Amino acid sequence: MAERRTVLKVLSGCAGAAVAGVGVAATGAFVAQSERRPEGSGGASWRKVARLDALERGKPTKAAVIGAVEDAWVRTPDRRIGSVWLIREDDRTVKVYSAVCPHLGCSIDRENERFVCKCHDSHFTDQGGVVDGPSPRGMDPLEARVADGWVEVKYRRFKLGTSERVEG
Ligand code: FES
Repeated sequence: MAERRTVLKVLSGCAGAAVAGVGVAATGAFVAQSERRPEGSGGASWRKVARLDALERGKPTKAAVIGAVEDAWVRTPDRRIGSVWLIREDDRTVKVYSAVCPHLGCSIDRENERFVCKCHDSHFTDQGGVVDGPSPRGMDPLEARVADGWVEVKYRRFKLGTSERVEG
């Protein structure tokens, strides 16, 4: 009888550990998901990224996108949620591209007057088109406006590795 109780205790201990394990796994998945979901990524809100007068005409300039990150329970204060490339055309127009490479999500940089993703050597034109490399589409353009001397952007993320530009 004592032996039977011991077996039951061991089994209930294992069940408890299994439940705890599921809890940890679920929490890990939740944190990872919440970190990837900046506020307003669905109906993205306008975010100031640079002063217009700080941008040289025709010269691509990289800027950080700052914003809060939130989920159903927690709202994290402002922090860097992404980067964009800005190309000022005139006093009212700035073209904006996401700095996330559409291939696998590395950062797009500038080298020898061209946009380049060094992870797998994709190159892009100043208009965001693919020149060569594995990127399945051009750089992702973002909605932008100039308001009160600031360049504002609606920052969005798009699915990686697909030729279609799908938010997600
Ligand atoms: S992640 Fe940019 S080329 Fe692969």
